[in-house]
Amino acid sequence: MDHEEFRRLGHQLIDWIADYRRDCAAGAFPVMARLNPGEVRGRLAPSAPLDPQPMEEVLADLSRIVLPGCTHWQDPRFFAYFPSNSTLAAVLGDLASTGLAQLGLNWQASPALTELEDLTTDWLRQMMGLSESWSGVIQDTASTATLVALLCARERATDYGAARGGLQAHDRPLTVYMTSQSHSSVEKAALLAGFGRDNLRVIAVDEQYRMRPDALREAIAADAAHGLRPCAVVATVGSTATTAIDPLAPLADVARAQDVWLHVDAALAGSAMILPECRPLWLGIEQADSLVVNAHKWLGASFDCSLYYVRDPQHLIRVMSSSPSYLRTAADETARNLRDWGIPLGRRMRALKLWFLIREQGVSGLQTRLRRDLAHARWLAERIDAAGQWRRLAPVALQTVCVRHEPPGLEGDALDRHTLAWARRINESGQAYLTPAMLDGRWMVRVSFGVEATEHRHVEALWALMQSAAAAA
Ligand SMILES: Cc1ncc(COP(=O)(O)O)c(C=O)c1O
Repeated sequence: MDHEEFRRLGHQLIDWIADYRRDCAAGAFPVMARLNPGEVRGRLAPSAPLDPQPMEEVLADLSRIVLPGCTHWQDPRFFAYFPSNSTLAAVLGDLASTGLAQLGLNWQASPALTELEDLTTDWLRQMMGLSESWSGVIQDTASTATLVALLCARERATDYGAARGGLQAHDRPLTVYMTSQSHSSVEKAALLAGFGRDNLRVIAVDEQYRMRPDALREAIAADAAHGLRPCAVVATVGSTATTAIDPLAPLADVARAQDVWLHVDAALAGSAMILPECRPLWLGIEQADSLVVNAHKWLGASFDCSLYYVRDPQHLIRVMSSSPSYLRTAADETARNLRDWGIPLGRRMRALKLWFLIREQGVSGLQTRLRRDLAHARWLAERIDAAGQWRRLAPVALQTVCVRHEPPGLEGDALDRHTLAWARRINESGQAYLTPAMLDGRWMVRVSFGVEATEHRHVEALWALMQSAAAAA
């Protein structure tokens, strides 16, 4: 492909994306992909082409085969999982990043990459009202950031034991504390970091699914009394199922008293902290050791873009650094080498999409959108609370509403079947997409707001659809 052909095809592809996004916003596609496993692959050549193929054919297959195999996360009727907004400004930023094709092995390998990342993480820090004592870096996902946090916690508790015998030489098993509401990435990170399932503690939650500080204190004391070494607490601000908010201030007091690392998973809810009125929700955040916020969820920076903040970057660097001779440069003493701020050596220019997004929308534009989404959730919650036979199952702290339709006389497994049936009815209709999830051992349905294109009329249409689907189920 020469540059002129690239220019021609690139214009064509941008037109294609613009049409797709326009049609998506107009509800032209069934929200949830309607096909069986293997169908997309079955329509594509099983082996790579030996000879070059015209790009026109590739683009045609994009429309004909790939697009029908997509679930439409940018559709205004997408209320499943969590919002994963990819604003058009961020799409352009990502394109620019790929076009520039930078590889940030160290500062010298791409000064602009490093400094844009430094700048945008600092912008978001300020936007979220965090103090200057936090330093940020972009990781791919919250899962990686939480793994990095637990590795740092482990190394602090063992006085950098990895440089000696590692956990295998440690005679006091290290323990990690989470709740039943923690994201599965927390357990995964603890296992990968070598803590062992036997040393993972699931702390009791209160009636709003928040970690109980008294239960944490007791668990830590019991472990210490049995000769174990309490190492890390992972608190969640905005849990995946119900957006429960663990009370950071009392949890931080407990953690600090025992020299236990406090990592805060605010993957979804961190974005809400650009609204000053939401900040009381994470009171105590300044006492944490590390924090992850996914700008690729509600904020709109296009997957993947997870911001990981630490209070002690020197500790992070000591745990993560590797300095082979070919990567050393004269700037090492004065510039950030982001390879020492996480697991991968190479990094792409992820900050560009965040920078495009924030500049295009401005802080006020982002705030207006998030406030609108909070209002959508409150509106639906009010309808549910006022309607007979519908039950809201958790406080609406942010943009997620957890709900069940409970006709008289229906309970236990029969109620579960009813819940799954009306959710399936909606999802298969293509008119909206919601996710059923288990809460306290029973199925419920999560309605997650926050897609950029969702307007109030979509929320009204959803409520009507929920009522008709439940009546028919
Ligand atoms: C609270 C919470 N933590 C972590 C994650 C994992 O995010 P990621 O896909 O960036 O690893 C999610 C997303 O589902 C989440 O809701």
